[in-house]
Amino acid sequence: MNSAGAAAAAPSWPRCDRTRAWVALQGHYEAHGRDLDLREAFARDPRRFETLSFAAPEVFVDLSKQRIDLAGLRFALDLARECGLEARRDAMLGGAVANPTEGRAVLHTALRAPSAGSGGGSDSGLFSREVHGVLDAMLAFAEQVRARAAAGELTDIVNIGIGGSDLGPAMAVGALQADQHPLLRFHFVSNVDGHDIAPLLGTAGQGRAQAGLDPRKSLFVIASKTFTTQETMTNAALARAWFVQRAPEADLGAHFVGVTTNLQAAAAFGITRTFGFWDWVGGRYSLWGAVGLPIAIAVGEAGFRAFLAGARALDEHFAHEPLERNVPVLLGLVDVWNRNFHGFTSRCVAPYHQWLARLPAYLQQLEMESNGKGVDLAGEPLPFATSPVVWGEPGTNGQHAFFQMLHQGTDVVPVEFIAVREAAHGYADSHAKLLANCLAQSQALMLGKSEAEAAAEAVPTAAKDFERARLARHRRFPGNRPCTTLVLERLTPRTLGALVALYEHRVWTAGALWNINSFDQWGVELGKALANRLLPRLESPADAAGSSGDAGGLDGSTAGLLKRLAPKT
Ligand code: F6P
Repeated sequence: MNSAGAAAAAPSWPRCDRTRAWVALQGHYEAHGRDLDLREAFARDPRRFETLSFAAPEVFVDLSKQRIDLAGLRFALDLARECGLEARRDAMLGGAVANPTEGRAVLHTALRAPSAGSGGGSDSGLFSREVHGVLDAMLAFAEQVRARAAAGELTDIVNIGIGGSDLGPAMAVGALQADQHPLLRFHFVSNVDGHDIAPLLGTAGQGRAQAGLDPRKSLFVIASKTFTTQETMTNAALARAWFVQRAPEADLGAHFVGVTTNLQAAAAFGITRTFGFWDWVGGRYSLWGAVGLPIAIAVGEAGFRAFLAGARALDEHFAHEPLERNVPVLLGLVDVWNRNFHGFTSRCVAPYHQWLARLPAYLQQLEMESNGKGVDLAGEPLPFATSPVVWGEPGTNGQHAFFQMLHQGTDVVPVEFIAVREAAHGYADSHAKLLANCLAQSQALMLGKSEAEAAAEAVPTAAKDFERARLARHRRFPGNRPCTTLVLERLTPRTLGALVALYEHRVWTAGALWNINSFDQWGVELGKALANRLLPRLESPADAAGSSGDAGGLDGSTAGLLKRLAPKT
């Protein structure tokens, strides 16, 4: 299934650094941004929080602790307009070729649009019949699987996929545990490292008595856009071989299901039930369609439709809200400000909700695979920085690991806190402590602690002979470290859908200003090709047609390492 029918490529737009607004923004940064002190800014303007916090559907965003002022934001909005952000957005949502290096439209938003004829908006007709055909079939299948689980026929769902075919469903299934089918366990196998799948297949090595799954009660979802990805194909073949050793091959169709754009390859693998998607859905945006099958199985048809509806609400906001209140656009502008003017090289994502533990990993792919580019759409090398490093861990765990560096290290790392007001458990005291920690961290990053304040404190844990004034230098916090806080009322399919769509559009906003292609990922190709060439040199001698351990023609380091790693004859 391909982009046939997509509108023509969008015209070219100015790159941010070649606009008048960029120069004005630079000037504003020099005068009012570089040295902006958050403590002084709040003291000067008691309404700073009200001015710089914004509401999108299901997500409230506080930007008041970012080192930008309202005037700076207005200059950034001028930049967005001069870069044609609104026209560009409309072109993408309307089906233009927004991924020119692969000649594809970018229409993951069509996956969450209501069906044509339901009166759901101007863009709901795009590929509507195909999208809703697959969606309805997939949701009916998910309900069948849930019924098989309720009847005691299925206990385990194993998703085999990697990158976008793993991270989105893994993140969402983990996040939506409150809504999950109570009789099903979910597993996500992604790594070509056999240690990932071995415990599930009951082959995890000596000394570990592990039963593995029951093949008669397991459903394997083989998710791969291309159905050629080495990791996924390797794990799928292992799962298939394991299955047919333990169950009649004729039952394979009831225990393996495919999710792919490559229906032929799935059929050749022996999969009879396949849900398709289209080349205009990038891997990292594919959780809204058939790649979301594990999510649909976990939360059921109603839950999955609510997930789509949350994302759709955000799409409507992104498409129609004026730029000055358009929350994904504002987040993207602050990202550009932080990256290109303040020069911050990374961003830490700290969800204060344990079930969002996989969100940072999901966002790493979304942002770094999309915007980790070094040339613009014309192929010209960029003279400015693009994607920051995105990383993180749930709070409060991160506080006891890397927050030391965030508070007192030499680099400034903007932090993104995600707080959820209502918990899905009944432990009110734990939840109050969690939220207190979240607020305290953002407060501490901003307020810091002066040397004088530190010197005035008694510190019972300090070494007795360490002079108090000298100790204060170690106990000083510079403060003025920026952060954003995102607030959800509850973590539900709908709010999660909105949150993820917010991130998607925000990443697009920064990529559009940088004038890069946020939808290709050529940077992953070279390593894949080299791994294929190295593979015969590392295969066990019996399989390797004579080249195992052969380091000839390699660079010195790779040759040396290969000799250490090659199987011993
Ligand atoms: O890592 C590159 C990539 O193409 C990702 O963009 C994609 O999500 C992942 O590999 C998996 O690809 P596929 O779904 O085709 O197996």
